Amino acid sequence: MDTVVIGLYGSTLDSPVGVRRWLRWRPTVSLFQAEDLEVARLELLHAPAHLDGVQRIVADIGNLSPSTAVRLHPYELADPWDFEEVYALLHDWALAYPFRPEDEDYLVHITTGSHVVQICLFLLTEARLIPGRLVQSAPPQQGELPRLSLIDLDLARYSRLAARSVARRQQATGLLKSGIPTRSAVFNRLIEQVEQVAGNSTSPILLTGPTGAGKTWLARQIHALKRARHQLQGSLVELNCATLRGETAMSTLFGHVRGAFTGAQQARPGLLRAAHGGSLFLDEVGELGLDEQAMLLSAIEDGRFLPVGADQPVESRFQLLCGSNRALRERVAQGLFREDLLARIDLWTFELPGLRQRPEDIEPNLDFELERWRERTGRQLRFTRQARGRFLAFATDPRSAWSGNFRDLNAAVSRMATLASGGRIEEREVEEEITRLRRAWGEEAPTAEALVSLLGEQELDRFDRVQLLDVLAVCAESPSLSEAGRRLFAVSRQARSSRNDADRLRKYLARFGLSWEQVAGG
Ligand SMILES: Nc1ncnc2c1ncn2[C@@H]1O[C@H](COP(=O)(O)OP(=O)(O)O)[C@@H](O)[C@H]1O
Ligand SMILES: [Mg+2]
Repeated sequence: MDTVVIGLYGSTLDSPVGVRRWLRWRPTVSLFQAEDLEVARLELLHAPAHLDGVQRIVADIGNLSPSTAVRLHPYELADPWDFEEVYALLHDWALAYPFRPEDEDYLVHITTGSHVVQICLFLLTEARLIPGRLVQSAPPQQGELPRLSLIDLDLARYSRLAARSVARRQQATGLLKSGIPTRSAVFNRLIEQVEQVAGNSTSPILLTGPTGAGKTWLARQIHALKRARHQLQGSLVELNCATLRGETAMSTLFGHVRGAFTGAQQARPGLLRAAHGGSLFLDEVGELGLDEQAMLLSAIEDGRFLPVGADQPVESRFQLLCGSNRALRERVAQGLFREDLLARIDLWTFELPGLRQRPEDIEPNLDFELERWRERTGRQLRFTRQARGRFLAFATDPRSAWSGNFRDLNAAVSRMATLASGGRIEEREVEEEITRLRRAWGEEAPTAEALVSLLGEQELDRFDRVQLLDVLAVCAESPSLSEAGRRLFAVSRQARSSRNDADRLRKYLARFGLSWEQVAGG
């Protein structure tokens, strides 16, 4: 690519004459003294009055860099300090110039000319009317070569803006995740998309997923993000549609005028109106009655609706957020949910994965819960190392159902914290909690065969398998770990060669990745 310099003859700096001119810093000439710049062409703008000086430097440039072509562009300026005149001149010059940025690299020399000229060259380059970079020359230090610096406005601006928007987006996703450093790629991608949609759209957002997956939580964070970005000023109004009952449903949502029905002594604005300028979160939206669905649809389409008994519509515009843990399509098929309303609210549907689908997030969420407990109670809470390992192993085990998702995790931490003495959760608390969770998830104690086959891939020797099956059978019949130990080690017990049967059994089970709670009969 050829390098082309565009610049003005500097009537003062470029003008020295005689042999001593070589000792002076002449900015335009200095471009050709720099070692690492090879200029194919110089487009030199100048006032006709300075032609003598121009021809002098053209000759010098010819000696310094014989391969450089110099083209002269005389211009007339009544007042080089008149911004409008200078800008118009350079602007028109740039527009008329046949730039070929694919083949040529343009450098705009901004060291010469009046300050007004320099500012105008800067503006034209920044606006990309001159598709080039700025080049600035500076007087050489004693005995050194002239210094040049290149300034790429486009890149500088781009990377600065890009850095700013990356930081802004990270802050936003951080808010949506309550600062939890989640690791699940699926969940993180979902949050990034929510951030994009919340930032760029006012359309309804539908959050689906199993109970306790965090729909209500995320709805609140979306509202908080929109507020923080000044996209909303109003408040968040939340309603669980499953709690709406019969006749009052309409007036709860849309309000009523005084005397609209018996008992309506006072007018009531209704939740849609209360959400004006803010957000309305309709949880379990599938539970909404068909009449309310029809009203809601027209309210979100028109931004207006009629309160019960009113003859004047009321205005309300809000960000609609919906939550649902059931398949709304099925409700549509059963005639229980309006298809047109669904089409309206499921433009942006985000399906929150359950905890079981994000095992890598259990640990950061566990830490978050511990921290929340500390904030709530003002008391420190820690796991011992073994207890933490045991809990995480159980929690991330694909066999753990986590059917209540965050609600279960929440409850588990609260229970262990309450039972832990001195803020230390030990293995005992963890094992007891595991038993409680299993029972809550309605898990039957697995049979010995099922357990052994689950160990599956690790390919037990027949020798081990036979022994393990028998040990597990005894465990399943024993009321406690100690009792199982007594039964299994009855002989060595008598010989007093074994100190602790329970410990010996626990260690045996651990060799297969099993714990007492997994194999106990319950
Ligand atoms: N992302 C999250 N991080 C931490 N805790 C959460 C998160 N999402 C939900 N929770 C907790 O789990 C509980 C259930 O979440 P919620 O949003 O009510 O679930 P859903 O509405 O999907 O049933 C909440 O009380 C909250 O404390
Ligand atoms: Mg909820």
